[in-house]
Amino acid sequence: MKEEIIHGDCLIEMQKIEENSIDLTVTSPPYDNLRTYNGYTFDFEGIAKELYRVTKQGGVVVWVVGDATVKGSETGTSFKQALYFKEIGFNLHDTMIYQKNSYPFPPVNRYYQQFEYMFVLSKGKPKTYNIQRCETDPRWRNKTNKSSTQRNEDGTTSGLKYETGKDTRKLDNVWKLNTGYMKGTPDKVAFEHPATFPDMLAERHILSWSNEGDTILDPFAGSGTTLKMAKKNNRNYIGIEISQEYIDIINKRLET
Ligand SMILES: C[S@@+](CC[C@H](N)C(=O)[O-])C[C@H]1O[C@@H](n2cnc3c(N)ncnc32)[C@H](O)[C@@H]1O
Repeated sequence: MKEEIIHGDCLIEMQKIEENSIDLTVTSPPYDNLRTYNGYTFDFEGIAKELYRVTKQGGVVVWVVGDATVKGSETGTSFKQALYFKEIGFNLHDTMIYQKNSYPFPPVNRYYQQFEYMFVLSKGKPKTYNIQRCETDPRWRNKTNKSSTQRNEDGTTSGLKYETGKDTRKLDNVWKLNTGYMKGTPDKVAFEHPATFPDMLAERHILSWSNEGDTILDPFAGSGTTLKMAKKNNRNYIGIEISQEYIDIINKRLET
């Protein structure tokens, strides 16, 4: 298996990766200037183009991102990035939501900010889609009647709206995941990084959009969540991280 952890700037390091060689990228860049990560910045447009170049035809990039609020207005950087990915050739396959169950107290004029976007981008149609499933709600498990059919715009019905009569069904595209200290991962050392995403987020995407033996990239590897889940699920991986402090965390996590 290929297991590569690279200390460096992802724009430069990705240029060394062969074109059309990556099956799946699961990554989360620095969001606006919410956190400085030891002062490092990144060139979004250059990195987006490199991601397109290295991704195989049918490969997928999962871009997990949120927006900062500056002078009372959300920046909208996440949307701008999604539209830029489309402009350079990616297909915006799905705009998914990562819903957190721990979040800070909001300002008086706002609701609790509970989510981030997970933009699922594909180079052409996704070549792999192992759609993950969950337990069917007991209300639908034994039901086969017509009230659960899909209503079309012209008033006719077709297909089933819910997968009735089955023990499991497709997941929704809103994923409510455990976050917070010792909830997103059992690896204590990971919490020395200020902004990890949960193990389950990375694992579900890896299972969804790749197969065993495929190559997974994380150009903003942070504490190494994507790399750890790739290893666990018998995928090759390449992780790039600019901060030596976080590379040390990755190495410790991957030892366990
Ligand atoms: C949001 S964090 C990623 C966290 C990761 N998903 C995890 O679960 O641990 C973004 C990471 O990108 C790194 N970074 C920022 N600019 C970079 C660059 N130009 N090249 C590589 N890494 C960079 C930061 O040091 C930070 O660790």
